[in-house]
Amino acid sequence: MNEKEFKNWIKKSQWKFAKSAKDTNPHFYTLIHGVNRLNFIEAAKYINANGSQEWFWKRPYTVLKIDGWKYWTMTTDYSEIILINKTKDFQVYDKIADNYDFYFSDPKSKAVDEAVRQRIGNLPGTVLDIGAGTGLLLEMVSIPVEKYFGIDPSPKMNEIFKQKFPNFRCYKQPFEILKKKGFDNVVSLYGSVNYILPEYINKIENDNPKARLFLMFFNPDYYPETYIKSGVFIDHFVYSAKFLESLFGVKPYQLGNYLVINKHEVREQILFE
Ligand SMILES: C[S@@+](CC[C@H](N)C(=O)[O-])C[C@H]1O[C@@H](n2cnc3c(N)ncnc32)[C@H](O)[C@@H]1O
Repeated sequence: MNEKEFKNWIKKSQWKFAKSAKDTNPHFYTLIHGVNRLNFIEAAKYINANGSQEWFWKRPYTVLKIDGWKYWTMTTDYSEIILINKTKDFQVYDKIADNYDFYFSDPKSKAVDEAVRQRIGNLPGTVLDIGAGTGLLLEMVSIPVEKYFGIDPSPKMNEIFKQKFPNFRCYKQPFEILKKKGFDNVVSLYGSVNYILPEYINKIENDNPKARLFLMFFNPDYYPETYIKSGVFIDHFVYSAKFLESLFGVKPYQLGNYLVINKHEVREQILFE
């Protein structure tokens, strides 16, 4: 099997969400049962031949990373193989981190930042910054150290964040397994939310039912500039305006290449009606 055939196999396979590992190890699996056995084993061999070693719960795994996903099998005994797993490569932004700020330092990007900053306004109370990256939110809005809580699973983005904002908390973890709840504000800038596995998108509001939301989703037809500038393609999830409206109960508005869920305004309206 070559890379093209492997990618084809990925597309054609039926992936099931592993519900039992929802809170600890978000992932999907596909079973050998009922599919072309030889092809399945070829895919497993491709992973083991081209992957690199990673440790999970003190066990070594061969993991293959492609387009922002990770694939692994539990065995090299192909007579026994029953499943292949996949999850997001949560650290894929490591490849882009060194140049990330530079990519968006041009006047056009700065003008969009300003439009975003005006829309965010003030953030009274605690703030969860999902996919904090290199700390853009802290560059835009003044937030007291003790009120800010960032998360981003990319160690390299995190390193740059820490250089810029050494006193602020930013934890190296994906949103999917975040335990902390009940924030007053949840902000996610420039498409970070599009990397969250769809099975966890409603966790944003479920965990933070009273929060003011400011979430920037990629427009469904937008091919992010980051991928063009860096040459690194990262598979992200796409949500239509209609779907976002049904999920959050407010119409998203268009801001450049983004669909913004801004729930604050609607909450205030309800409050004063
Ligand atoms: C497009 S960048 C945006 C960074 C920052 N918000 C900004 O606007 O400059 C996307 C960020 O989301 C992070 N990310 C990817 N998957 C994530 C996940 N599951 N949970 C939280 N953050 C994630 C990446 O590591 C990356 O730093």
